[in-house]
Amino acid sequence: MKKLLLQRYKKSERFNHWVVAGCFVLLAISGLGFFYPSFFWLTEVFGSPQLARILHPFIGVVMFLGFFIQFFRYVKFNFFERDDLKWLLGIRHILVGREIGDTGKYNAGQKIMFWVMTISMALLLLSGLIAWRQYFSGYFPIWVVRIALLVHSASAILLIVGIIIHVYAALWIKGTIPAMVEGVVTQEWAKKHHPRWYREMMAKKEARTQQNSGSQTNE
Ligand code: HEM
Repeated sequence: MKKLLLQRYKKSERFNHWVVAGCFVLLAISGLGFFYPSFFWLTEVFGSPQLARILHPFIGVVMFLGFFIQFFRYVKFNFFERDDLKWLLGIRHILVGREIGDTGKYNAGQKIMFWVMTISMALLLLSGLIAWRQYFSGYFPIWVVRIALLVHSASAILLIVGIIIHVYAALWIKGTIPAMVEGVVTQEWAKKHHPRWYREMMAKKEARTQQNSGSQTNE
C-alpha cells in the first residue's frame, strides 16, 4: 500500500541544512586538528595544515551565515510551551518509544538543541572573529584574544556534542532522515511524533481542497 506523505522541508531548506552540516564537519575535523597535538593530522582534511589554517575561518563564516538563515526560518517553532514540560518530565517513556504531550513541529528535545546550536554559533562567530589573526586579532589586547580562544574551544565542544545528539536522534527515530533528504515524512510518523503539527498540516490540506473545489464550482 502506498504511504501517505506530508511535506516537512522545501528544497531550499534542505540545501541550506546540508551546506551548514557540510561546513560543520569540515570545521569540526580541522578545529580538532588545531586543538590537540595528537589530532594534528586531521588538519590534512584541506590538503595541508597551512590551507586548513587559512580556510577554517572562511568556512566558519559560511556556516554561520547558513545557520543565520536557518535561525530565522525555524525560530517561531522553537519557543517553549506548556506541553514541552510534560515531554521533558516524561523523557523516560519517550526513550522507550511512547510519545507524551501534544507536540507541534518540534519536540522539547529539538527545541533545546535549537537553542544550544544558536548560542554556540553566536559564541563561535564572536570569539572566532577576535581570534582571526589575519584580520582582527591586532585590534585586541592579547588577554582578550586568549579568552576568545578559550570561549571558541568550549563552544565548539558544546556544538560537537550537540550535533552528535542531533544526528543520533535523527537516526534513532525511524522516518526522520527522509524529512531532510527527500523533504517528506509519512503521515503515521507525523501523527505519532508531532500530533499537533500533523493536525495543522491536515487542516491546511483540507482547506486547500475545499478552496479548489469551491473555485471549480464557481467556474
Ligand atoms: C551532520 C549530520 C546531520 C544530520 C544527519 C542531520 C539531520 C537532520 C534531520 C533529519 C533533521 C529533520 C528533523 C525533523 O524535522 O524533525 C534536521 C533538522 C535540523 N538540523 Fe540537522 N543534521 C545534521 C547536522 C546539522 C548541523 C551541523 C546543524 C547546525 C549546526 C543542523 C541544524 C538543524 C536544524 C536547525 C534543523 C531544524 C529543526 C530543528 O530545529 O531541530 N543539523 N537535521
